[in-house]
Amino acid sequence: MALWGGRFSDGPADAVFALSRSIDFDWRLAPYDLRSSLAHLEILQASGLLSSEIAKQIRAALHQLSSEVAAGTFLPVASDEDVHSALERGLTEKLGEIGGALRAGRSRNDQVTTDLRLYAIDHMLEIALKIVALQTALVAKGEEYSDAPAPGFTHLQHAQPVLFGHEISKHAHAFARDLDRISDWLARSSVSPLGSGALSGSSLPLAPEKTAAVLGFTSSSANSIDGVSDRDYVAEALFILAMVGSHLSRIGEEWCIWATTEFGWAKVADAYSTGSSIMPQKKNPDMAELARGKAGRLVGNLTSLLTTLKGLPFAYNRDLQEDKEPLFDSIETILLVLPAVTGMVATTDFDREKMALAAPLGFSLATEIADYLVRSHIPFAQAHEAAGKCVALCESSGRQLHQLTDSELADIHPALRPDLREVLTVHGALNSRTTVGGTSPQSLKAQIEGLKTLISNDEKKFLDKQAAFSAMMGA
Ligand code: ARG
Repeated sequence: MALWGGRFSDGPADAVFALSRSIDFDWRLAPYDLRSSLAHLEILQASGLLSSEIAKQIRAALHQLSSEVAAGTFLPVASDEDVHSALERGLTEKLGEIGGALRAGRSRNDQVTTDLRLYAIDHMLEIALKIVALQTALVAKGEEYSDAPAPGFTHLQHAQPVLFGHEISKHAHAFARDLDRISDWLARSSVSPLGSGALSGSSLPLAPEKTAAVLGFTSSSANSIDGVSDRDYVAEALFILAMVGSHLSRIGEEWCIWATTEFGWAKVADAYSTGSSIMPQKKNPDMAELARGKAGRLVGNLTSLLTTLKGLPFAYNRDLQEDKEPLFDSIETILLVLPAVTGMVATTDFDREKMALAAPLGFSLATEIADYLVRSHIPFAQAHEAAGKCVALCESSGRQLHQLTDSELADIHPALRPDLREVLTVHGALNSRTTVGGTSPQSLKAQIEGLKTLISNDEKKFLDKQAAFSAMMGA
């Protein structure tokens, strides 16, 4: 059903209708469109523009339509252009002419962006809680391996030993920042555009700030032109999702490396691996690879919207219809990847022995020699030089650092005494990293406790927000 046509002598050409049509993707907005229609109805009634008798009929029809949409018994048809026209058709089928009454004081321009905000808020809350589940799995895995030494890397080369629990736990912090970003985004996006009309507000006695409150928004748009054209909330959501995707991708990359035959650290559970159609022995970490691969489209979606927005003139332009598919795709992609990565993390076992044996390799204890000399008040530049000479001597003679003789050590630097060997152990190196955020067992324990508190606070915060949103939707 077309929502316009009075001034046209002919309907749209097939090609025009085909290009215009957004119903194939914007049908996802149906529940939010129905909810915002109920809010709009309330204000039309309160302002005396609709009699309570008519309002009652429309309200009943909207509720019925909501149930039918939820049950899948009311569906778009080929002639529906978008979610708004499909639902107005539904209302008119039930109510006859008064089905069109809701259009007073409202335009699809303010309607569509109100719907999209509600959709985005709903789904970002769902994503936040799935991120919390992933953090919980990461911290549990981190705790499980909080006593397991492993090599730590820079440039993918052995650098200094770390506790493997420290390595795993780092990811939970990245997701904590993503949750912070979602909280900030929620606060900034809580503005209702409903009431902005086509672009200039309305001459009818509406109260946009009241509609905003009914829909759970903190405020209504302070400028109606901005109200219909602002898509910052979509761009920011896409950035957050691209960032989450990048964090998931980095987990994926690590899992891929750790699961190689060469590393042999990670044993990914069968349920989170896939096989090969030709090589019977293969067990591939496809979930890790997909987590890495999906990051590309998430970045692409952000780029796509920013490119659409750049240079758009004032108020609504049809280009803005292009805001939806990137957002839907990024949300749906993240909702697919998060549970798969969470399951993969929770069910992967790591080879403690292999990691422990590898921890001191690659002269990863060389920094201990330099730090030992610094404790004897040798300037770090000299200490670094002496430790480097120890490494060179070991390399040329095929030995490890602790195998250098007393006289070789003294020759390199007189302050290198035999008790140096006490710090040349993985445990010594780990235990000495006691700074806040360091890898010592006690620092890691404090870190994990901190993460647990953070995660449970975040979980409570997002559950409360989700409950409030559901209550608003169900009202
Ligand atoms: N399907 C449109 C969109 O997604 C709805 C708004 C149409 N507004 C208009 N003036 N043609 O943006």
